[in-house]
Amino acid sequence: MFALDVITHSPAQTYQLGQQLGAMTREGDLICLCGELGVGKTTLASGIGNGWGAREIVNSPTFVFVNEYSDSRGRRLYHIDAYRLRDAADSQSIALDDLLNDPHGAVMIEWAERVQDVLPNEYLQIDLVAVDDQTRQVKLEARGEQYKKVVDSLVLRDT
Ligand SMILES: Nc1ncnc2c1ncn2[C@@H]1O[C@H](COP(=O)(O)OP(=O)(O)OP(=O)(O)O)[C@@H](O)[C@H]1O
Ligand SMILES: [Mg+2]
Repeated sequence: MFALDVITHSPAQTYQLGQQLGAMTREGDLICLCGELGVGKTTLASGIGNGWGAREIVNSPTFVFVNEYSDSRGRRLYHIDAYRLRDAADSQSIALDDLLNDPHGAVMIEWAERVQDVLPNEYLQIDLVAVDDQTRQVKLEARGEQYKKVVDSLVLRDT
């Protein structure tokens, strides 16, 4: 399956969905998080970090817009918040290719729509939409073979 819509009814549920995704996140993976201000991107990203196994945050001296987490096995998870990026030069400054080429790294990007010009062809696209105060629609779309497995596994856990 390449696309799946999940409804969450609380921040905790969105976080839990993130934990499931994080547990399946592998080296070289890219997760793009899109949606309006305050919709729940950081909540989902925190769950992803937790499920992935993030222990500590290492603020990168080289990449201003990038937070870096590590796990007990020395893997790295890069968390980019593209909200403040203004133009193409800023997009280039995150050096996304370098991050994606880290053999022990995975990447997630909030406000990924702002760096569309530097995204590769394949990634897991996640669009969040506010339904009401406590309810969010989380739309997952696998753009690339490797992400279909991830979406499939979520379907399995749901049943
Ligand atoms: N089902 C839900 N899932 C996630 N957040 C929810 C949900 N229902 C309500 N919320 C609230 O929505 C807000 C989400 O905040 P969060 O920082 O995760 O959003 P964001 O998309 O990262 O915002 P920003 O665009 O400012 O970075 C929180 O205040 C949270 O309590
Ligand atoms: Mg945020």
